[in-house]
Amino acid sequence: MTSPQLDGTLAVHARGLVKDFGDNRAVDGIDLDVKRGEIFGVLGPNGAGKTTTLSMLATLLKIDGGAAEIFGLDVATHPHEVRQLLGVTGQYASVDENLTANENLFLFGRLLGYSKAESRERAATLLGQFGLEEAADRQIAKFSGGMRRRLDLAVSLIRRPPLIFLDEPTTGLDPRTRGQMWTTIRELVDDGCTILLTTQYLDEADQLADRIAVIDRGQKVAEGTPSQLKTSVGSSTLQLRVADPAEVAAAAAVIGRVLDAAPVMTPEQGGINVALAQADQAADALVALREQGIGVESVSVAQPTLDEVFLALTGHDTAEDTTEDTTTDSPELEVVR
Ligand SMILES: Nc1ncnc2c1ncn2[C@@H]1O[C@H](COP(=O)(O)OP(=O)(O)OP(=O)(O)O)[C@@H](O)[C@H]1O
Ligand SMILES: [Mg+2]
Repeated sequence: MTSPQLDGTLAVHARGLVKDFGDNRAVDGIDLDVKRGEIFGVLGPNGAGKTTTLSMLATLLKIDGGAAEIFGLDVATHPHEVRQLLGVTGQYASVDENLTANENLFLFGRLLGYSKAESRERAATLLGQFGLEEAADRQIAKFSGGMRRRLDLAVSLIRRPPLIFLDEPTTGLDPRTRGQMWTTIRELVDDGCTILLTTQYLDEADQLADRIAVIDRGQKVAEGTPSQLKTSVGSSTLQLRVADPAEVAAAAAVIGRVLDAAPVMTPEQGGINVALAQADQAADALVALREQGIGVESVSVAQPTLDEVFLALTGHDTAEDTTEDTTTDSPELEVVR
């Protein structure tokens, strides 16, 4: 089977995407550009519109507003060609529970138009690539969550698509299996694939994605590399703990004066956090404390986390379901700058 001629410099090029479900505007004017060969992460909480966006790009849902191209092909006018270029792995596995892994891959191969011999060959190759050889003849119903995810991804790769959509590829997996999935995803990119993935996990976007779009309530609220996003929120934070908790207020006053900043005392005994304009200001603070005879027990300089970035951008953390409540503050997370 041959792929259509690929043109278009971008793997995904979308402008002003809109999707309405009745009164609910699930996707509200999203622009996305995914370059060839990159891992692009769409990050957002439950109900942000991630699956809906992917479904429109994958021709599985009608686009209500705006337009999208996959490798230069318009999604609305060339849905058949677009589907040839895409492997889509859904949030919920789509394989048949009663069949074995081998049977599933063979069946999908046949459905995609491969001969029996080709289908057998693709099944064997993919079972090997995903470390599922030993489980090849086991029923899917008896697979673990991680094995099912890998099989689901294998199914979407039967056709060797140049662009792969992964909708929350590691949700619900244990840390070790998540790590294996990340390795698999990186290998696909090394082989020349482009990956568009959604995730609710900030660390996953941080680890895996070359670039990230943060979406919230159907709108893109930020975009950039993980480090650009972190920088946009502020520079580093000095976190320290004074040896004698009774001196914490005095220490905070000294640091505030020296750095011309507003330190925050943390719930931890003797803990102080302060935003730094430059990382080397940490030394100024420590020298001043020593001059005042205030002992320091521990000290570290931390980059802002993507959690803090998300909170700063959206006013709430990713754990909240934004479809239910749009007003609450986040009590669990505190931004210290
Ligand atoms: N088929 C549908 N019919 C009606 N409303 C829908 C449908 N699919 C999604 N929605 C609504 O659209 C909004 C976005 O949903 P979507 O599934 O795209 O979010 P998501 O970012 O993928 O969330 P999650 O992280 O929970 O998967 C939600 O308010 C959801 O209730
Ligand atoms: Mg979803």
